[in-house]
Amino acid sequence: MIDYFCFVIKKETMLQRIRQIIGRSTEDKFERFPALFEREILVAREARRILVFDEAKNMVTDIDGIRVECLKGKRIFPRTHVEQTVSVIAKIQELGGDLISDYDDYSTITNWHRKIPTKRGIVETTFGDFLAGKHNDLGDKVFLKTIVKDFSSVCVRKNGEWVYEKTGVPIAKRVKKAVGVMVSPVVKIARDDDYIEREWRNFIIDDEPFTMNNYWTHEPLEEGYVIDWIRAKAAELKGIMPSCYCMDVMEYEADGGLEMDLVELNPPIATGADLIPLAHNIFGVPFEDGYLRRARRQGLSVQKRAEASLGE
Ligand SMILES: Nc1ncnc2c1ncn2[C@@H]1O[C@H](COP(=O)(O)OP(=O)(O)OP(=O)(O)O)[C@@H](O)[C@H]1O
Ligand SMILES: [Mg+2]
Repeated sequence: MIDYFCFVIKKETMLQRIRQIIGRSTEDKFERFPALFEREILVAREARRILVFDEAKNMVTDIDGIRVECLKGKRIFPRTHVEQTVSVIAKIQELGGDLISDYDDYSTITNWHRKIPTKRGIVETTFGDFLAGKHNDLGDKVFLKTIVKDFSSVCVRKNGEWVYEKTGVPIAKRVKKAVGVMVSPVVKIARDDDYIEREWRNFIIDDEPFTMNNYWTHEPLEEGYVIDWIRAKAAELKGIMPSCYCMDVMEYEADGGLEMDLVELNPPIATGADLIPLAHNIFGVPFEDGYLRRARRQGLSVQKRAEASLGE
């Protein structure tokens, strides 16, 4: 279904690092490379389904470091950050590769909220208009995020000024006024226990859920009604969204009951750097269970969990 993951490097130091990882046996991987993006690289490497795009040299190389001249007939899944999506898409297209998601798809998915309603309701505006009070009807506490990933936080209005809920620091200088933002009511996400929020990251590939995992622990989703909700949502979005995207879903407390809702959709090319279950499923490399157990026990943030696993 997917022939290669393609990682992108911008700097020579990163290239060396990726080469180091590719060249290293997998046994000592967790000792030296806790970062989760690198775990994805290791999985693709183990399956020998890895390409590396050097943005500075405008060159794609394979697992042996040999320059790739043609990708015709190969389906490529770039794995990178927002800043590098344009260049990697252009390069794969130049080499004739079949992209899991192209630039048009990227734009459609980034603006998903314009086509797909949510239960809690999301308002699109500019940061400037928000600060100027054009959406006062939303109250003094909102979830605010930029449409292009840069900023997201629960914000509260104190003495007429919008501040981060947690720190009380004003947000006015954090984002340029012309930038597009999404504003929504704050919801209380349900929890499995003190640490684990009921939020799932789901990869929709060719219009079907391919992986469904808890967002925090990565554990595979097993609850039938949640799986059914995600399947039904993917079916509903068929033809409205491109066929491949990442769908984050949450369950939150509402009127004494629970509601399911979309958190957001993300372009698969630039979704996070922690898609371990996805990488394992795509390349058929067995999943390391111990990682999930540690994650659950510690209930830490994704990066913290990876760091903590080094200490054990
Ligand atoms: N309306 C809301 N009320 C409360 N919490 C929310 C709300 N929307 C999202 N969240 C929480 O905040 C997190 C970040 O939100 P979201 O994914 O929409 O923003 P983001 O900019 O993509 O952030 P990230 O890059 O961390 O995913 C979500 O994973 C969810 O846990
Ligand atoms: Mg998110």
